[in-house]
Amino acid sequence: MRILLCIFSGTGNTRKVGAFFADVLRGLGHEADVALIREDVPMPAIEGYDTLVIGYPVHAFNAPKPVLAFLKRLPKAQKPVYLLRTSGEPSKINDASGISPKRILKKKGYDVRGEFAYVMPYNIIFRHSDKMAMRMWKAALCKIPKDAALLAEGGTSLRKVGPLRRTAAAVVRIEHPAMPILGRTFRVNRKKCVGCAACVAACPRGNITMKNGIPKFGGHCVGCMACAFGCPEDAVRISLLNLWRVNGQYSFEGEPAADEEVCRYCRKMYLNYFHTAEDGEQPFGSNLEKGKGK
Ligand SMILES: Cc1cc2nc3c(=O)[nH]c(=O)nc-3n(C[C@H](O)[C@H](O)[C@H](O)COP(=O)(O)O)c2cc1C
Repeated sequence: MRILLCIFSGTGNTRKVGAFFADVLRGLGHEADVALIREDVPMPAIEGYDTLVIGYPVHAFNAPKPVLAFLKRLPKAQKPVYLLRTSGEPSKINDASGISPKRILKKKGYDVRGEFAYVMPYNIIFRHSDKMAMRMWKAALCKIPKDAALLAEGGTSLRKVGPLRRTAAAVVRIEHPAMPILGRTFRVNRKKCVGCAACVAACPRGNITMKNGIPKFGGHCVGCMACAFGCPEDAVRISLLNLWRVNGQYSFEGEPAADEEVCRYCRKMYLNYFHTAEDGEQPFGSNLEKGKGK
């Protein structure tokens, strides 16, 4: 089977999960390609693929706007599709993020068969510890092989969302029109910025340009945090959201957090997610750091 994974990722979590998912599919004997959903990457040709996977990070209980725009540009087809998402916490309300993608895909004739959800460290609001990030990755290494096997069998795993969660997600979808406005007010701290243009390269929207050696933020921001998270000098200031700024890659190395080290915030939910994902499973490969997804 030939599978195409189309991935939108601001700060690398969804890309890491998607890359590992593709590795596992290849290990099962399938062909798997990864195409990034970015402004500077052309629309992939989907004709030669049997199955699509659409990957995205949850943004305010919704799928990011560029993912919906990408789905709207897909040609009509009757292929099986699976959604793959990452989120900072394992809350059920994040399942609402599948509503719009499923609606768009179904309208175009696609057969949406499954939704796979992974918890990965927050890139906004607060920074998880590296041990927590590693426990999340360990859970993903246990869960992805099961999900990839289900996809390879053509199985189904769809999630239902009740009316309250639907409504809450619809309300905070205000993020879609608000972020381009707010993003225009992002600035760099001129004492810190070294003009390296890492933010320009990281932005999946092509929304940042260099003017006189200083980044300027345009009107197409979707709040993915690629600029602030990836700045090597922590120089990007994200306007009203600045107190929620998280800077610097997680290491995804070393020992994962033990149960008693799991953060207190939503502790019960995290433990439940970890135990369910890890239930009776060894992480893929004998060594956690062998997970190849980058
Ligand atoms: C603007 C924004 C909104 C977010 N909203 C949610 C959310 O509603 N629920 C959640 O669990 N995580 C939320 N997150 C966290 C991300 O979904 C999570 O860190 C994800 O793994 C990031 O993936 P990426 O590195 O591929 O961009 C949000 C992140 C951003 C930047």
